[in-house]
Amino acid sequence: MTVTMQINGRKVQVQATPDSRLLDVLRGELGLKGTKEGCGEGECGACAVLINGQVANSCLLPLGQMENADIVTIEGLPADSPLAASFHACFAAQCGICTPGMMIAATALLNEHPQPTLEEIRWGLSGNLCRCTGYGRIYEAVLQVATGAAHG
Ligand code: FES
Ligand code: FES
Repeated sequence: MTVTMQINGRKVQVQATPDSRLLDVLRGELGLKGTKEGCGEGECGACAVLINGQVANSCLLPLGQMENADIVTIEGLPADSPLAASFHACFAAQCGICTPGMMIAATALLNEHPQPTLEEIRWGLSGNLCRCTGYGRIYEAVLQVATGAAHG
């Protein structure tokens, strides 16, 4: 089947079987390898993308459900955003497998609540696992954006 989507602001048409995972289409057909695969079972958030503004795990989404979806991957977030600068300044990225999903989830959180508390940040990122246990620095990076303390 052919599916038409908006990805990072560009209209894209993809031909694949309806049960192809969005994650594989992004990384394979479209070469957007910033979206990572961790568990492949909807548990870790490494594959998170924004779909119509909401966080979704692309490893669980069949292409057949993506017609006309508006999708943002990590490549679609501004590289010079306060969030990116804050992750950098706080050393919030370690191995980096979870980082794209964390930034996607943080973007959705900050879009919805520009000034979340630490508890709201913990809750907002609770679907994203970091095996390096770098949560403290990740939360701090998001908190600095929320409080206006981030650079950039
Ligand atoms: S790879 Fe999709 S949730 Fe873990
Ligand atoms: S930085 Fe290693 S899993 Fe998150």
